[in-house]
Amino acid sequence: MKAIRVHQHGEPEVLRYEEVPDPTPEPGEVLVQVRAAGVNFADALARRGLYPTLTPPPFIPGIEVAGTVVAVGAGVEGIEVGQRVMGFAPKAGYAELAVMPAAGAMPVPERINFEEAAAFPIVFLTAYHALKTFGRLQEGEAVLIHAAGGGVGTAAVQLAKIWGGRVFATAGSDGKLSKVRTLGADIVHNYRTGDFLDAVRRWTGGRGVDVVLESVGGEVFEKSLRALAPDGRLVVVGLSSGVQPQLHLGLVIMNRLSVIGMHLGSMTVKRPDLVGTSARELIGLLAQGMIKPVVGHVFPLKEAAEAHRLLEGRGSYGKLVLKP
Ligand SMILES: NC(=O)c1ccc[n+]([C@@H]2O[C@H](COP(=O)([O-])OP(=O)(O)OC[C@H]3O[C@@H](n4cnc5c(N)ncnc54)[C@H](OP(=O)(O)O)[C@@H]3O)[C@@H](O)[C@H]2O)c1
Repeated sequence: MKAIRVHQHGEPEVLRYEEVPDPTPEPGEVLVQVRAAGVNFADALARRGLYPTLTPPPFIPGIEVAGTVVAVGAGVEGIEVGQRVMGFAPKAGYAELAVMPAAGAMPVPERINFEEAAAFPIVFLTAYHALKTFGRLQEGEAVLIHAAGGGVGTAAVQLAKIWGGRVFATAGSDGKLSKVRTLGADIVHNYRTGDFLDAVRRWTGGRGVDVVLESVGGEVFEKSLRALAPDGRLVVVGLSSGVQPQLHLGLVIMNRLSVIGMHLGSMTVKRPDLVGTSARELIGLLAQGMIKPVVGHVFPLKEAAEAHRLLEGRGSYGKLVLKP
């Protein structure tokens, strides 16, 4: 089969389109003919050798696909050859064929095409657990969503509105923000040209927000802590800027704040019960058309390097998807 392989860590050009052996499913796995692969920020970190759970080169990047089941491994029940599935492909996703743990293979609702399906699982599950499980977002609460024009961000804005939140969304360009507004955000703010902390304080009459979804790090994290109301929750899912922030413990103590980390990959291993419940709820919302994966860019698989350049250059909106 054809796949993208990384032979040494580095810039996007290390993503090489090559012929590689076909994978075979182990017990508990299914083999999928990949029709679309989701691009995640974690893929770029893995390519650079910066992701915490590293596979040494050579490796096929990518952790999320949608496609058709072509074979099932021993012990797999409830999934048949020919079924349309989407979900984690943690071993290798940027390929024509990928293996998926059967437990994480979700059925693709009829109204959803493969590009949308590949853009769905990781960002919606991440946004779900960040906002609901750990952020404990309640109806009427104010929520600050950073990088709202990204994959996780566009999912989070939609879910926060469904759950009755009041959404203050930031992004790094006015073009992204005008699209984020159409997702239902109450306020949009370009955090590269204006101080979001002042704007949040004005919007909330000085009180601050109840929940922050943070993935940027550095100064954005530090100001987000100051943007919280007493008893507020700041849920950290990433560090896109690569800049480690300072944690102002005085603020945390005095305002009874919670700073909570969340990692979907580790939840699938340690809390499959929670992930399973959320996946069923999200598929229900998807099938009813209440949420929609935002596919911003589609590239042929062989142009994975271009997709990574766009993602890391902060130029993408919504999800990027690769088509084998
Ligand atoms: N913990 C988890 O389980 C989990 C799961 C999925 C994703 N994540 C994390 O969530 C974040 C979003 O992931 P994603 O895949 O949806 O990516 P994404 O948000 O589509 O892309 C990253 C966005 O981050 C923003 N950003 C801000 N500062 C940046 C910088 N210095 N360099 C690059 N980008 C910067 C950019 O948007 P603006 O220019 O508009 O700010 C960029 O478009 C990432 O940090 C990722 O690692 C975590």
